[in-house]
Amino acid sequence: MQVIVCDQPDEATELAANEILAALEKKPDLVLGLATGSTPIGIYSRLVRAHQEDKVDFSRVRTFNLDEFVGPPSDHPRSYRSFMRKHLFDGVNVNEGNIHFPPVEGPALRDKCRDFEATIRDAGGIDIQILGIGRNGHIGFNEPTSSLASRTRIKTLTEKTLLDNSRFDREKDSTQKLAPTLAATAGIGTILDARRIMLQAFGRAKAEAVRVSIEGPISSFWPGSALQLHDDVTFYLDLESSALLTMVDYYRQVRKNAQELEERGLM
Ligand code: F6R
Repeated sequence: MQVIVCDQPDEATELAANEILAALEKKPDLVLGLATGSTPIGIYSRLVRAHQEDKVDFSRVRTFNLDEFVGPPSDHPRSYRSFMRKHLFDGVNVNEGNIHFPPVEGPALRDKCRDFEATIRDAGGIDIQILGIGRNGHIGFNEPTSSLASRTRIKTLTEKTLLDNSRFDREKDSTQKLAPTLAATAGIGTILDARRIMLQAFGRAKAEAVRVSIEGPISSFWPGSALQLHDDVTFYLDLESSALLTMVDYYRQVRKNAQELEERGLM
């Protein structure tokens, strides 16, 4: 586990976006696991800019979103499909057929969730999974007490998540209000299958979830703590979200050493 603490969220976002662009250069048919929410918007705007200014090609990229609400139509302004169109898909030349979301339309949702997993496997697995984290430690919509081995399925959202989501409703007029209580989400086991995981967390509200995910015991009560079981995960933090970590100096030293090894051509 690597922990990168930046003074500002922008700096952390720049690092994460640059890593994705470098990976895309090496592998044009990169398989990306995508998150929604306010945290990854900066990454997406940098990817869009790179496509528009530097002609970075997304035509062979495959994407798998982590989650989607059950209930609202896919073109509802609060659906995660709409979010992704607005912040990424409409700004790059990703192929419509290469975009995947967990299933939210019945019948046979359980079978369709299994198909979603199979589609990820058929694509060769996720190369880079982008994650945010909820105040309650959820990753994707794997709420506290989700099995650490869970796969794609329908989850009931917690009160805390519903409250956090309602801030987006306040930005909209009343006809667009949405209060979904169910979502389809990739499981914790699905997330842990990704070859590389990049989690960003910014702001004081995330500090407790970040502390337990990195330094706390592994527990289904804090789903982010399952990431301790992954061998290639990086937390990109700002000063506020890292405020409760007890070993920040050590993480800084580890990063400095890694950069030195890199410069000396040893890595
Ligand atoms: C959404 C998702 C969630 C969010 C989390 C943080 O696709 O995966 O786990 O990452 O709720 O949301 P923000 O970034 O809005 O604080």
